[in-house]
Amino acid sequence: MENEIRNMTSNLSRRTVLQSGVALSVLSATGLPQLAGAQDAVAPASFSTSLDIGFTVNGEAVSMAIDPRTSVLDLLREEIGLTGAKKGCDHGQCGACTIHIDGKRVVACLTPAFQVEGRELTTIEGIAAEDELHPMQQAFIDNDALQCGYCTPGQIMSGIACVREGHAGSDDEIREYMSGNLCRCGAYPGIVAAIAQAAQEMET
Ligand code: FES
Ligand code: FES
Repeated sequence: MENEIRNMTSNLSRRTVLQSGVALSVLSATGLPQLAGAQDAVAPASFSTSLDIGFTVNGEAVSMAIDPRTSVLDLLREEIGLTGAKKGCDHGQCGACTIHIDGKRVVACLTPAFQVEGRELTTIEGIAAEDELHPMQQAFIDNDALQCGYCTPGQIMSGIACVREGHAGSDDEIREYMSGNLCRCGAYPGIVAAIAQAAQEMET
């Protein structure tokens, strides 16, 4: 009995579906009832999948077509080949991707690439003079301010901005204004010492 009921239900379902399908076919073949507005529907407007922008990176002019959804971090790493800025969290929480745009520190992973039109980008690859490290780079070496080094480019770029902003007056102030840059290796004492040292050299 139980099997018969199951078969009946199954047949009913199949029949219902087939009948519905036939009915729909007939309706569409005859062009009778349609959803309101269907006749007036137009294809969605196509949109461009690339955008032409121009900007500078480390003093070099760049013009290129970008996917408007690209982040500055992916633009630098995947399109331009500058891999100094690191992808740590990709959510604006670790600071590993810190670069400068028009001299201000930003997290590149949360910055849309289309926003850099006409701007000046500076990455870790562009801060040393030809034969001389930037004082912040040298200070990181002098103070042993890294272990694995993954966070270091972001720490250095953020440290330079921290000094320029006038927030390197004391160790506590450096710690506060560098709090957006995380170091999983815990190299914080060396990082604070490096920024304090570079602050003296950048000011002289
Ligand atoms: Fe950008 Fe972490 S990768 S903040
Ligand atoms: Fe390893 Fe900072 S040196 S994460």
